[in-house]
Amino acid sequence: MKILETPQAFREWREEQAKLVGFVASRRVGFVPTMGALHEGHASLLKRARAQSDVVVLSIFVNPAQFNDPNDFQKYPKTWEQDLEIARREGVDAIFAPRAPDMYPDGYKYKVTENEVSTVLCGASRPGHFDGVLSVVMKLFQIVQPTKAYFGEKDYQQLSLIRGMVDAFFLPLEIVPVETMREADGLAMSSRNRRLTPEQRAQAPRIYQIIVKASSSDEARRQLEAEGFKVDYVLDRENRRFVAVFMGEVRLIDNVELQ
Ligand code: PAF
Repeated sequence: MKILETPQAFREWREEQAKLVGFVASRRVGFVPTMGALHEGHASLLKRARAQSDVVVLSIFVNPAQFNDPNDFQKYPKTWEQDLEIARREGVDAIFAPRAPDMYPDGYKYKVTENEVSTVLCGASRPGHFDGVLSVVMKLFQIVQPTKAYFGEKDYQQLSLIRGMVDAFFLPLEIVPVETMREADGLAMSSRNRRLTPEQRAQAPRIYQIIVKASSSDEARRQLEAEGFKVDYVLDRENRRFVAVFMGEVRLIDNVELQ
């Protein structure tokens, strides 16, 4: 498994591969972009990529541009050794793990902005978040040049925006959505779950249990608040129910399809 730390190093590796085996011309390149702190949700993306690709690329980059809260950025979990183990186990061929100055040589003067979907739900409470996500994903796609890229449905709004960007800019790749992986008690897997205290972790599955059963989004909000959650939003849109809550400093999101 190769580890490449700069866009230049990744390009050189890709060119070497192309000489050896026609990497770009004929090989299916499956790409899983992440911010590290990998869990079984990421592993399910990697499994899907492995099954559908000749070459699997994983990126690990905690993207400063998508954090509107500096404290959240500082405290984002970092588990490099464990990430390497999961990557090896899932048959990753190359990890692209750049540093911020190499990804933002322009100082983030250039960005990708969407003006509609990015203004609601998480976009309403995290100004600039989706500009940061779209900009870094665009950069990653240019560097990796994947055939398919895999994104979890837990970040459903992110997934919709990335699909929209791919269509808007005629990017030559397919976006593959992968269903949310849940713990046995229903909690959606997330790198942020590691930051919960044992008490918060015990209470967190109620988020999923409540949004699945409540008869309306207002009812879900009422039940969550009654159980002490600080609710950012609960909203029904396009046959899905979306939720974001704070547990202490940690913001958790989830969504389910409405029956
Ligand atoms: O979902 C994530 O982990 C990030 O938002 C992504 C897509 C890797 C961009 O930094």
